[in-house]
Amino acid sequence: GKQITTSDIRKKKEASIPITMMTAYDFPSAKLVEEAGVDMILVGDSLGMVVLGYDSTIPVTMDDMIHHTKAVTRAAKRAFVVTDLPFLSYHGTVEEAVKNAGRLMQEGFAKAVKMEGGRELAQLVTRCVQAGIPVVGHIGLTPQSVHQLGGYKVQGRDLAQAQRLLEDAIALQEAGAFAIVLECVPEEVTGMISQKLDIPIIGIGAGVTCDGQVLVFHDVVGYASQITPKFVKRYAEIGDTIREAVAGYVKEVEERRFPAPEHVFHASEDTIKQLYG
Ligand code: KIV
Ligand code: NA
Repeated sequence: GKQITTSDIRKKKEASIPITMMTAYDFPSAKLVEEAGVDMILVGDSLGMVVLGYDSTIPVTMDDMIHHTKAVTRAAKRAFVVTDLPFLSYHGTVEEAVKNAGRLMQEGFAKAVKMEGGRELAQLVTRCVQAGIPVVGHIGLTPQSVHQLGGYKVQGRDLAQAQRLLEDAIALQEAGAFAIVLECVPEEVTGMISQKLDIPIIGIGAGVTCDGQVLVFHDVVGYASQITPKFVKRYAEIGDTIREAVAGYVKEVEERRFPAPEHVFHASEDTIKQLYG
């Protein structure tokens, strides 16, 4: 079908149709996620945790993000692909940050970039948008700041924090962001922010009162993801299926039951005679 655009995404909010987003990190995951019908694919820096095995997103580099974005965009023909700017890639000069955002599009073929933060990013968001780079904001629990936040925990629980989140969301919208990911926030706060903003609010651990949802692929399909936060729903246990398949292979190889006759090539009668005399 036709490629999904930022205006399609915005129209979904106007029509109160939920927006669907999921992460993917490589060709097969992107292919399956797209075939399942998501609107948006996020090449999240969560790849550091679920694909590369780090215990936070902090070690993820620009080169990691470009490498994985290339694989995803080779598979995604219809879904709108957004890629995360990794830790520290947008905290130097605005010029450096715009350049890094541009690399995700020019080298990775992403259609937009996502960055963690609120009002402090307003100038950068505007500069990206001026350069033709669509921007998704990300507020609430921002995993790149995990050591500052003191862990992966719910944000915006008290009134002052909730108001701060709203102000950050408004600042991002005014700066030109076309959507905002809101992570790990009480549902009532999500509802208030979603109602006040014109751009779509895509929640993760933020309840049902927003314009769309995003989850991490490995969490949703149960693909060896280490921790399952409260807000995750596992729709499959694909890790069990994979482990059983590989264990079956190991057993059959050890018992010489694999390969079976149907998996084997044969030389001609003539060659066989000469080989074996
Ligand atoms: O990196 C990621 O997967 C994300 C989502 C959880 C929003 O940023
Ligand atoms: Na991320």
